[in-house]
Amino acid sequence: MKVLLTGATGFVGSHILDSLRARQLDVRVLLRTSSSRRFIQPHLSHLELCEGSIGDVASLAKAMDGVTQVIHCAGVTRAKRDAEYYEVNQQGTRNVIEAANRHRGKISRLVLISSLAAAHPAPAVTPAREDDAAAPVSEYGRSKLAAEKEILEHCRVPFTILRPPAVYGPRDEEFLTLFQTVRRHLVPRFIGGIEAMSMIFVKDLAEGAVVCLSHPAAAGRTYFVASPEIVTVPGFCQEIARQLNSWALPLWLPVPALWPICALTELACRIMDKPSLLNRQKYGELRARGWVCDATRLREEVGFVAATPLADGIRQTIAWYRENGRL
Ligand SMILES: NC(=O)c1ccc[n+]([C@@H]2O[C@H](COP(=O)([O-])OP(=O)(O)OC[C@H]3O[C@@H](n4cnc5c(N)ncnc54)[C@H](OP(=O)(O)O)[C@@H]3O)[C@@H](O)[C@H]2O)c1
Repeated sequence: MKVLLTGATGFVGSHILDSLRARQLDVRVLLRTSSSRRFIQPHLSHLELCEGSIGDVASLAKAMDGVTQVIHCAGVTRAKRDAEYYEVNQQGTRNVIEAANRHRGKISRLVLISSLAAAHPAPAVTPAREDDAAAPVSEYGRSKLAAEKEILEHCRVPFTILRPPAVYGPRDEEFLTLFQTVRRHLVPRFIGGIEAMSMIFVKDLAEGAVVCLSHPAAAGRTYFVASPEIVTVPGFCQEIARQLNSWALPLWLPVPALWPICALTELACRIMDKPSLLNRQKYGELRARGWVCDATRLREEVGFVAATPLADGIRQTIAWYRENGRL
């Protein structure tokens, strides 16, 4: 068994790499000359490195020579321009499929890391299910849905699509700001916006992806992969505060008032040629009442449950931020 992993240098991909190597599987990673080796450093002596890009079918086809499974995790969650979401998430996936199809018969599974954003917002009382009609609210979500469609329509090797909700854990930059806000004794409370959400601890997501590489029932299936615990933003923050032994006051944020902040941040980042954390896409996601999904299908068909309790996941995340001088 030899696995090709894309996106290994990023947050989610580096944890997938940890899970693959914990099982002592042979791994080849596709990475760009510009990719940071920081998160894959501990594994370098046991890895095959293959320079290339998901923008280049020839480098992908070469990287897939001799592999038995592929995990396609590379993607962009923030972009400077809307077109970039489609160039990387949709076209990149199309290229991965084209390369995998050239090795049809030798590759027994292609796992795509998609996103709940490709589905639709949903409150806790009616969580999103895999067979619901998709209705993404952001360009990011639309590009991830387009990637899924590429798989469903063109992939000729057995595939599995995994749709995680928000992912948190060691090495994450997105939730770091929230942890730092709580450390400054503030808990955001969104008025007129997001109330409940599903989440997943990154190590659980990594395990789920690895399990789906070889489980027979997962072939041709799409799954939400999420912790069974449904979280509120204040609940998540209160747990962070509790573990920091800190107190926190509510910071009331009327969601409609965030629109100009999101638009101005996006404009400023565009001028500085940087992808922004707050933008009009993020506003669309915050305005939704909930981002809750039901991961029952994955449990029933594959037997996989994202088992890390929220408190334990937050503890490990805080520990990593502290060790790395981030908190
Ligand atoms: N983080 C979340 O909350 C979350 C939630 C749901 C789904 N996801 C999905 O999980 C995947 C990974 O996200 P992440 O949070 O780990 O992001 P990340 O930390 O930014 O990592 C992205 C990875 O993709 C690679 N990549 C980006 N563009 C590429 C290109 N053109 N060619 C080759 N590699 C490229 C990056 O390589 P370089 O190191 O070279 O830049 C990096 O390894 C994405 O598909 C995302 O949609 C993430």
